[in-house]
Amino acid sequence: MTRLTLAALVASTAILATTGLSAENLEAIKARKALLKEMADATKEPGAMLKQEKPFDLAAVKQALAKYQENAPKIAKLFPEDSKTGGDTEALPAIWENKDDFVKRYEKLAADAKAAEAAITDEFSFMDEFPKVAGNCGGCHKKYRQEKN
Ligand code: HEC
Repeated sequence: MTRLTLAALVASTAILATTGLSAENLEAIKARKALLKEMADATKEPGAMLKQEKPFDLAAVKQALAKYQENAPKIAKLFPEDSKTGGDTEALPAIWENKDDFVKRYEKLAADAKAAEAAITDEFSFMDEFPKVAGNCGGCHKKYRQEKN
């Protein structure tokens, strides 16, 4: 009986220690994923236009560019130290080792989106300018997001 209690005590202490170590900020992870998903949804239409699967629609392009400017600064703030693991996150440790570069990339996405808002007036300028903005997504993912198999 005593031995069993001791074993149980040791086990629960170990569990406590583990949870304590990996205090996961699941709220931040959930929030950033939702904002990233919104950007991806806004990118769908312009993406289809780039592939000429859909007719050019300036309003949808402007909507995507506005969404990037709205969400990028919010997402940049959702990577606190305690959100490195948990919640199915694909965030790589490199984010916290290069926090300045990481945050600057979100600033660049927003700045490029703002510039493109002015530069894109028709389908030709869209074809030229939009990929430059969207390149920020893949560029960052390559370095800071775990690849899914
Ligand atoms: C500065 C870096 C950076 C930029 C720029 C960036 N992303 Fe991401 N993205 C990430 C990281 C890191 C994750 C993984 C987040 C996680 O799982 O916690 C991610 C995850 C995602 C996800 C998956 C969300 C989920 O539900 O798991 C989508 C979709 C996405 N990004 C779309 C985009 C789009 C579209 C753009 C451009 C408009 C973009 N991202 C720009 C870093 C970036």
